[in-house]
Amino acid sequence: MSAHETPMPMTSHKCGPLKGVAEVPGDKSISHRALILGALSVGETNITGLLEGQDVLDTAHAMAAFGVGVERLGDGKWRVHGVGVGGFAEPDAVIDCGNSGTGARLIMGAMATTDICATFTGDASLRARPMGRITDPLALFGARAYGREGGRLPLTLVGAKGPVPVRYKTPMASAQVKSAMLLAGLNAIGETVVTEAKATRDHTERMLAGFGAEISSEKTTDGYVITLKGQPELLAQTIVVPRDPSSAAFPVCAALIVEGSDVLVPNIGLNPTRAGLFYTLQDMGADLRFENERLEGGEPVADLRARFSALKGIEVPPERAASMIDEYPILAVVAACAEGTTTMRGIAELRVKESDRIDAMARGLEACGVRVEEGPDMLVVHGMGASGVPGGATCQTHLDHRIAMAFLCLGMAAKKPVSIDDGGPVATSFPTFEPLMSALGANITRDNR
Ligand code: S3P
Repeated sequence: MSAHETPMPMTSHKCGPLKGVAEVPGDKSISHRALILGALSVGETNITGLLEGQDVLDTAHAMAAFGVGVERLGDGKWRVHGVGVGGFAEPDAVIDCGNSGTGARLIMGAMATTDICATFTGDASLRARPMGRITDPLALFGARAYGREGGRLPLTLVGAKGPVPVRYKTPMASAQVKSAMLLAGLNAIGETVVTEAKATRDHTERMLAGFGAEISSEKTTDGYVITLKGQPELLAQTIVVPRDPSSAAFPVCAALIVEGSDVLVPNIGLNPTRAGLFYTLQDMGADLRFENERLEGGEPVADLRARFSALKGIEVPPERAASMIDEYPILAVVAACAEGTTTMRGIAELRVKESDRIDAMARGLEACGVRVEEGPDMLVVHGMGASGVPGGATCQTHLDHRIAMAFLCLGMAAKKPVSIDDGGPVATSFPTFEPLMSALGANITRDNR
């Protein structure tokens, strides 16, 4: 089973201004991909700035189980001795992906066109998430999956013996599905073509190109068409992982809602497929600036400066959803503190994340005295504005790190403390959240019940 078993209740108390510099950890999406592509390349890939959250550590262990040499050299410094495309060995034990949908789905893609068999499991959250969205299209390559209803974990994937290339249009906006198909396409002779109607995060495409794969992306009337030539020799790389905009979202949003705050969050990856939250916050009237904008390792990067702001509710453009899909929990908290109503539409995918995030946010905000409305693919939050969010409740986090961090941020601004049933999962993506927020001035306590 996964590392985290005993719930860790926590409480966040109203605090004074948040001030200082928040050095958030490396990007989770890019960290998973650096390990997996390093594993599929020939030679030694050196990574710095790797997120050492549990999700990524689980992917590192998985790579080792597939016969890849994975070494930790120091804080965030890792070396991967790749086995080349098609070079995975058959693991002799079950692969436990913990809480990570990205880990599970990308690794399934990476092994699906190699003639080996592997069994995957994860924690209670991951075992409840749909895997058919991955195993159905991987079957087109010739892979076979034997899992629970809906393809749920635990499941066994038998890789294709003579994989054929595939043309596939993703039925939902999912970078995990797109990436699993591209990683599988690596070991199929010929061109694998993946089309997505809406652009999702493109780290896999960028990194594949960086490792030397022949890959192109074209915008057509049908959407974004990504074409990958199979069986390239991927060459080991040096990778500097930018800091995670999805983690930066927490200190940035906390600064916006806690009176008097002024926080600098340096070196944040601002890939346009990830930065939607920051534009949405600006639309709400946030005093949020991008300073020192530059390019690092092919990714746009900037320092974010956030100051307390009088925010107003808005209609969040649904076409922005994919570029801020992980940020809706913290946006819902910001919306609760804003004046007026914030409407978030086109967010059905939130129902199949680490938890049903629409439901988790709606119930927690209601418990804290905020009026919300919810639909199958939408959430409406009626902001409390100057009168303030009452708080004074315990919110259920359902093994979801982002729900946990969102409600801890709410507690920093609410009139009465906000508690969460379990802060353990925060370590999956942002292990330094608690000391980092405390150093800025937050007052978070662990409740030993
Ligand atoms: C991710 C893709 C997104 C996101 C997840 C990370 C990735 O999931 O929610 O946290 O690294 O590819 P979906 O592909 O399911 O939208």
